[in-house]
Formats: sequence, structure tokens, C-alpha cells
Amino acid sequence: MSNLDYVTVATEIAYEAGALLEQYFEQRPAIEYKQEYDLVTAADRASEKLVVERLRSRFPSHSIIGEEGGGIDNNSEYVWYVDPLDGTTNFAHGYPVFAVSLGLLQNGEPIAGVVYDPIRKECFAAEKGSGAYLNNRRIHVTATEVMEKGIYGTGFPSPRRHTNVNVHFFHQISMLTHGSRRVGSAALDLCSVACGRLDGFWEFGLKSWDAAAGIILVAEAGGTYSDMHGGPYEIAGPTLAATNGKVHGQMLELFSEIFQGNYRVPLDPVSTYLAEED
Ligand code: IPD
Ligand code: CA
Ligand code: CA
Repeated sequence: MSNLDYVTVATEIAYEAGALLEQYFEQRPAIEYKQEYDLVTAADRASEKLVVERLRSRFPSHSIIGEEGGGIDNNSEYVWYVDPLDGTTNFAHGYPVFAVSLGLLQNGEPIAGVVYDPIRKECFAAEKGSGAYLNNRRIHVTATEVMEKGIYGTGFPSPRRHTNVNVHFFHQISMLTHGSRRVGSAALDLCSVACGRLDGFWEFGLKSWDAAAGIILVAEAGGTYSDMHGGPYEIAGPTLAATNGKVHGQMLELFSEIFQGNYRVPLDPVSTYLAEED
């Protein structure tokens, strides 16, 4: 089976799971907790059940890793990473930004990815070597050459939020560029880089299922991704930076300064601001 067939099947499954999410969204299912601040709903589980069943019937020899634990280890070179509902916190609060994300890696290398946003009816799909598409139309990253002239996305993982240092990066990027967005779906953020709505994205602590589909979309749309230190991003690595490629080096340079504690724009204590108001 070619990569294209993988994308075709994953797209069919993503549409079906997306329709299911849409039905649940209208009913506002109850919020449950996997751990403190880490939300889950009946929709996450129902979507994962559907996706895993469909993948198993179409690709019985493949392995599947699903966020809600419904996967299967077949010791295959092909592994599907399934986020049945990326943007659960948005979903659970009725904020209409979420997606289903299916990424396929072969021997650790991304070869296909599909992300479907059922609210906007937007299906992002890419296969290795064949470009990236939004509803079957080719998409490309932006042509922005100067980091300061771009707009960027990031996120803050729900678990371990108290040990997350990202607010320092959020501050610098927000102050130095056209701005930062914290949309609440890493999969859609990566798709936004791929289709030119964002010039870049970064995040600490993403899971494999958050990024597996989005990274191939960025690469196939002409962008670049790495870890936040400039090394290769391995699936489920601790940090991810994805950009249009042109601003990648500038972003990494800024990140390097922040990691060393050097801030281009100081993060003043609130008391400084209050004193200026007087
Ligand atoms: C989360 C979203 C969010 C990101 C978190 C993820 P979930 O996934 O992608 O944007 O900031 O790191 O955990 O829990 O909604 O599937
Ligand atoms: Ca996720
Ligand atoms: Ca999820």
C-alpha cells in the first residue's frame, strides 16, 4: 500500500471521528479528570474507540498508540499515533477549536498525517514527498523572512503545568514579534504553520500523538522542525519548534538566549507597572 492510500484511509477515518466529536460537542459531555487539570470526556474515548477499530480493520499488522490507551502493539515498523480529540479543554468548555489527529511513522520516520477540524470542516493531509493539502488544495508555509514580522503559536500542557517554563518564551515572543497565540490544539497549531496562518510554533512536553501528524504537514508544506535547541526532533521529544524555515534560525537564537537567562525584553515584576501608574 502506498503512503497515499494511508492518507486516503486516514482521511476517511478522521472525517468519521470528526462527525462523532461534533455530535458530542453539541451535547456538552461532562468533564472528567485523568489527573489534576488534565481533562477527558466521553467524546475522547468514543472517538479513540472508533479510530482504533477502523485502523485495526484496515491495517491489522500495524501498531497503534492512542492517547486514551486504546492502541495495540504489533511490533510493526508502522506505528499510528492517534489523538482522538486534540483540544480537549477547549471542547469540554464549549470553545470550538479542536481536532482529530492521525500520524503514521515508519521506523520512526513520519510518512503520513491527517488532522481534521470538524467545526471548520478543514481537513489537513500530507504524505511524505507529495506535499501538504487543506481540503485537497495544496498549502505552503509563509514567506516571512524576519522573525519579528511573524505571528506564532504555542501551548501549555495541562499536566505538569507548574513546572513549565514556557511563560518566559511566551513573553519574549509576544513582545518581540507580531504576537503569540495560545489556541489550545497543538495539532491545529502545526497545521496553521503548514497553511501559513502562523509563521512558527513551539511547545514543551508534547506527547507523540499531539505532534505526529502536524510535523509532516509542516515539512511537506515547506517548513522546518527541530527541537528548541536546534537538534533533531524525535517523536515525543521534550521540546518542539516548527516554522516556515526562514525564521527558524532566528527563533532558535532567541530561544538559546532565553535558556541562558538572557532576556531581550525584561519581564518586570508587576510592582514596576503599578509604580508607573501612580
Ligand atoms: C493538548 C493540546 C494543547 C497543548 C497540550 C496538549 P489534548 O492536547 O494540544 O494545545 O498545549 O500540550 O496536551 O490534551 O487537548 O489532547
Ligand atoms: Ca493532544
Ligand atoms: Ca487528546
